[in-house]
Amino acid sequence: MTRIAIVAGGGPAPGINAVIGAVTLSALDKGWEVLGIYDGYAGLLPGGRIEPLVREQVRTIHFQGGIILNTSRTNLSRSPENLEQAAKTVREQNIDMLVTIGGDDTAFGASELARTVEGLQIVHCPKTIDNDLPLPGDTPTFGYNTARHIGTKQVHALIEDASATNRWYIAVAMGRTAGHLALGIANAAGAAACIVPEEFDGRKVKLSEVADLLEATAIKEMAAGKPFGVAVLAEGVAEALDPDDLASFGDVPRDDFGHVRLGEIDFGRMMCQRLEANFKAMGVKKRFVDLKIGYELRCAAPIPFDMEYCRMLGSNAVQFLATGGSHAIMNLANGEPAPIPFSEVRDPVSGRTAVRRVDLDSGAYRTARRFMRRLERADLADDAKVGRMATEVGLSADAFRERYSYLVAGDPEHWDWRA
Ligand code: F6P
Repeated sequence: MTRIAIVAGGGPAPGINAVIGAVTLSALDKGWEVLGIYDGYAGLLPGGRIEPLVREQVRTIHFQGGIILNTSRTNLSRSPENLEQAAKTVREQNIDMLVTIGGDDTAFGASELARTVEGLQIVHCPKTIDNDLPLPGDTPTFGYNTARHIGTKQVHALIEDASATNRWYIAVAMGRTAGHLALGIANAAGAAACIVPEEFDGRKVKLSEVADLLEATAIKEMAAGKPFGVAVLAEGVAEALDPDDLASFGDVPRDDFGHVRLGEIDFGRMMCQRLEANFKAMGVKKRFVDLKIGYELRCAAPIPFDMEYCRMLGSNAVQFLATGGSHAIMNLANGEPAPIPFSEVRDPVSGRTAVRRVDLDSGAYRTARRFMRRLERADLADDAKVGRMATEVGLSADAFRERYSYLVAGDPEHWDWRA
């Protein structure tokens, strides 16, 4: 009898249970046996847990957040022993097919296994709240829309709180090296500003520059009679920091794959302290409070968009395997299965999947910027406006321009909304 196994790896994302449920039900319908591998690839290592999945367990789990199989960041390719051990388990359990649910690291682990276990068919269902996998067009990764939905509600509530208590909130949103989640939340909620790592285009940025960007927004709002607000900072901006500045956070922890554990860096706190100190030095008392957005989104119950998307992914993944398919990312195009061979999304040298980043030239980004209250070149060209902003912080117009004009010097012409 055909045996299919399911494993989830990496950080959680809303909808993982829906994929597990859909794969299980579709495979059982074909008369296959279904195994759940618990705790990511750790489940294939000695002491790991692998158990059959049955209809009753999964019938309604698409409504649930969390992951019934749990997850981990166990990296199979880190040591040849791990890989060999995992391959041995796959052989012993007579697993013919493997559905992986995760990001690039999990997909890479699956390819390594398939390279080691002859005949093992694999298909990968791409999840991440970061939305940073290169799916064609604007196809989101599952989990992103639920995460954005909840993050937007949080930022909405913060905007109300900021207004009621006359302060600023700096929300640091997860997303690794891409700014999709931060921008998606900020744009939907109407936050005053959002800063994404893509803005720095690979250059190393000083903490002081990030603080100046936020400070300039706060001053612009003060001059417009709004001394409060919410700014969303993508956590990936921390990875773009100048190494000396990054070192000021102390020993930066890394996970099994070598990724900086951005969630453990007190980026928002550091920003708030700087901003309060900068304003104090200009004679202005202002309160900035930081908040992290991310962990509480990852195991949330999926919204219907992700439920349906994940059920389609899971059922198409099984169909793909049933027709002999392997080594692909399951993807949908207008609701139809459109699997993408691993070879098409991987860099042939590094073997890693390309990361999809925010396109700063897109109409979506331009619209987002238009609604933000970031300092713009046009603001600095307006003497009356500069006068009002400078007065708020006790500077002369010249001193104001001297201090902040570097922030907008590189802005492209098409960000001039009034043109
Ligand atoms: O990749 C998903 C993600 O949630 C990122 O947004 C975040 O940086 C990371 O995982 C956090 O991972 P961990 O669970 O290891 O702290």
